[in-house]
Amino acid sequence: MPQLTWVGKDKVKNHHHDVPFRLLNTQYTFTAKEGMPANSTGNKIIHGDNLEALKSLLPEFEGKVNCIYIDPPYNTGNEGWVYNDNVNDPKIKKWLGQVVGKEGEDLSRHDKWLCMMYPRLKLLHRLLADDGVIFISIDDNEQAHLKLVMDEVFGAGNFVADVIWQHSIQGKNDAKSFSLHHNHTLVYRKSIKFTLGRVSRRDEHNISYSNPDNDPKGDWRSGDVRSPNYRENLKYIVKTPSGKQIEPPQNGWRWSEDVFWDKYASGEITFVSNETKVLRKIYLCEQGGRVPETIWFGVDVGTTREANNELKEFFSESPFDTPKPTRLIERVLQLATHKNAIILDSFAGSGTTAHAVLKQNAQDGGNRQFILIEMMDYAQTITAERVRRVMNGYGEGTKAVSGLGGNFDYISVGEPLFLDDGNLNEVVGEASIRQYVAYSERVTLDTSDTLQAVNPHCLGLKDDALFVFYYQVNAITALSMDFLATLAVNNLISRPNSYVIYADKCTLTPDIMQKYGITFKRIPRDITRF
Ligand SMILES: C[S@@+](CC[C@H](N)C(=O)[O-])C[C@H]1O[C@@H](n2cnc3c(N)ncnc32)[C@H](O)[C@@H]1O
Repeated sequence: MPQLTWVGKDKVKNHHHDVPFRLLNTQYTFTAKEGMPANSTGNKIIHGDNLEALKSLLPEFEGKVNCIYIDPPYNTGNEGWVYNDNVNDPKIKKWLGQVVGKEGEDLSRHDKWLCMMYPRLKLLHRLLADDGVIFISIDDNEQAHLKLVMDEVFGAGNFVADVIWQHSIQGKNDAKSFSLHHNHTLVYRKSIKFTLGRVSRRDEHNISYSNPDNDPKGDWRSGDVRSPNYRENLKYIVKTPSGKQIEPPQNGWRWSEDVFWDKYASGEITFVSNETKVLRKIYLCEQGGRVPETIWFGVDVGTTREANNELKEFFSESPFDTPKPTRLIERVLQLATHKNAIILDSFAGSGTTAHAVLKQNAQDGGNRQFILIEMMDYAQTITAERVRRVMNGYGEGTKAVSGLGGNFDYISVGEPLFLDDGNLNEVVGEASIRQYVAYSERVTLDTSDTLQAVNPHCLGLKDDALFVFYYQVNAITALSMDFLATLAVNNLISRPNSYVIYADKCTLTPDIMQKYGITFKRIPRDITRF
């Protein structure tokens, strides 16, 4: 399969492993005022660089996010975005802090953009559930590059569509070339487990249905009765109830003979034109939603102008050039989320995704949760502020919009778990360290009284193995016979078959370790960095 190369690719391919794992600190929880309807709780708005924030989300959300929508910088040369990732390479370090320039002015602009995106896409891929899907808005500046990189990170076989969104309707007569009206939305699934939803039907989609014969099942339209491919068993002569014979079409009928008569019995097939023709009825009442098209029109899902007008309802002027309209993200949610889905937007901007999630929940009684990440300081004054207003209601007089309810945690990206010298950063506290180690061992942290009674340093049990993290701030811990004696495993219903025990050092002999099935892991050396 062809792959894209660019300056710095070899340096960023594994950069997501080098990104320090940092704690997520809840600054406050905002809850809609009393009297607002119920909506989802536990939503998150994270203020920080998404590379670090995405990494910090892994312990709780790896493989759990159902739908990702991102709208990264398009690299137009007008956004003023800056490459700031701390990649340890002299060439890349030269890029730090410089605004990425326009085509022709900045020869490494596409390399910088790809270096920025690659590790983020790797982390997004890990966060996505097996039946999840990602939608990425992009324009022609980077669409072709992004497509190749997505093929690499998500797998070309998981490409679902490149949806064209008509972002503006009115022509631009002063355009130097074509008048540009679309963005791309690349859609990739995590695996074949993803199922694409349907879009709601509107009256114009039903115009070919009617009920000329007063069919009790209501409006219908005629459907094709011919098989698209030739098959011998589909070529049979149909004998009508009054004894007439109808020859099969060139490839045969659409169904085998048994199925044909079952459909006749159910009324789906009838004979018309004096029993010389077969009519297949496709009933409107049996049509669910519509299969989504790959072109989304502005009238259906909104335009950039609509998005700017939406923002003006919250803020005196639109703080972005190209926000997305809420209806566009609602379409994404309708196609890709169930009522309890987790939706992630790691380039949150004005918080359109949160707005759409709350609206969709209000519409169908769902409990979808959003996680937004925004690095700029306006995470508080714009992103979170918009969401607060959507939850509480906004606007005045005839323009008043009722609140949708719900709550969210406002979170900042905090201290790293490991110091530069590789030691644990004790400032983060023992509880956070234990949580991390449990996650790195894929053990569910068990804080039950039963396990605490075995030993307060126990993390949990997995596959009959007991995991213990014997760690004390400002003290050297030793896995010794004395420590083993403190493990009151008799408190468990069945004794563990083996033990994974972390400590600063180990004084057990190899024989003892083998006898009890003990694996020793040294702190911090053997704590997995991911
Ligand atoms: C094109 S805007 C998104 C607009 C958004 N879809 C809306 O409707 O308002 C991209 C946003 O991503 C943010 N961003 C860019 N790089 C980021 C990073 N590394 N971490 C977090 N946010 C980032 C920018 O600050 C900007 O607000």
